[in-house]
Amino acid sequence: MLSVPLIFDCDTGIDDSLALVYLLAHPGADVRAVLSTGGNVPTDVVCGNNLAWLQLCGRDDIEVCLGADGPLESPLMTTEDTHGPLGIGYAQLPTPISTKSSRDAADAWIEITAEKPGEIVGLVTGPLTNLALAIRRDPLLPSRLRRLIIMGGVFHHGGNTTPTSEWNIAVDPEAAKEVFAAFGVDGAPRPIVCPLDLTETIRMTPDHVGRLAAQAESSPVEQPGPDDEPGTRSTTSNVIIRHLVDAVRFYFEFHESQSEGYIAHMHDPFAAAVAIDPSIAVTRSACVDVETVGSLTRGTTVADEREFWGRPVNAEIATSTDPELFFDDLIERVAAFARAHTTAR
Ligand code: BDR
Ligand code: CA
Repeated sequence: MLSVPLIFDCDTGIDDSLALVYLLAHPGADVRAVLSTGGNVPTDVVCGNNLAWLQLCGRDDIEVCLGADGPLESPLMTTEDTHGPLGIGYAQLPTPISTKSSRDAADAWIEITAEKPGEIVGLVTGPLTNLALAIRRDPLLPSRLRRLIIMGGVFHHGGNTTPTSEWNIAVDPEAAKEVFAAFGVDGAPRPIVCPLDLTETIRMTPDHVGRLAAQAESSPVEQPGPDDEPGTRSTTSNVIIRHLVDAVRFYFEFHESQSEGYIAHMHDPFAAAVAIDPSIAVTRSACVDVETVGSLTRGTTVADEREFWGRPVNAEIATSTDPELFFDDLIERVAAFARAHTTAR
């Protein structure tokens, strides 16, 4: 499989964490930079998490950039209830030795795409703040991307932040609006949008976690369950699996507290899989825009599926996939990667 050079912009985050490890594990992805956006937790905490995961995975050669302090126009909201006090659930990652890049996230978007016009795949699994800032600085940036994958938005399904909005868009609606306006025109590709409608069908279960540990030959094989004491810490031998289990357990408990069951929606790892291989998702084309002023609907993504607006199509919305095939692939690749990184850290 040919590997795609990729910029990963995220708000790490439990599911962002698994997305990052999956990208590192996948021969189809060549991660060129990890950019940190404030969202699930503040930007500096996101940045620390990205550095820590890369170090744990033996990839501290990958550049990590700090992004903006907060959204373009509104105060930053964070969601420690969903992702834990530090954004990585119950995981306590070793303090990273490596440090962040001297360039900021927006400049990294600009400079990396300028070095390889037409080759870079962008993957955003957090608010679109950094990308919007980069486009403000360099309006030609969108036309230099090979493709852009956005985890964000919701169209025919309830929101997870307000009744009609999804978290990544709701945190910075102005940024999302500017990004959607900049793509699908003037030679810029149409982003593939992975909305909540689809990513909430990507339900990780305790069985998936057990399979991951078993295939990684991590011992004991732990399978978190609803009867466990909340916050039970993993003691499994493989250090990557141990931290992932600690992170995902928190996400299971959060989803259960929301009456979703003892499962976890793996939004961001799915978007990562689409970034590597868009053929895993069926898409439909539409013009997408973002509501920024509605007193009840701020942060809502709107898809003009019947062309009322008479505006050009600017997005491909992912509508279906095979979740179990996705999990089979994720488990196999992350397990093999973890197995190969057995050195105690
Ligand atoms: C998105 O919001 C965040 O909490 C997750 O990391 C994911 O990117 C889902 O709405
Ligand atoms: Ca995220």
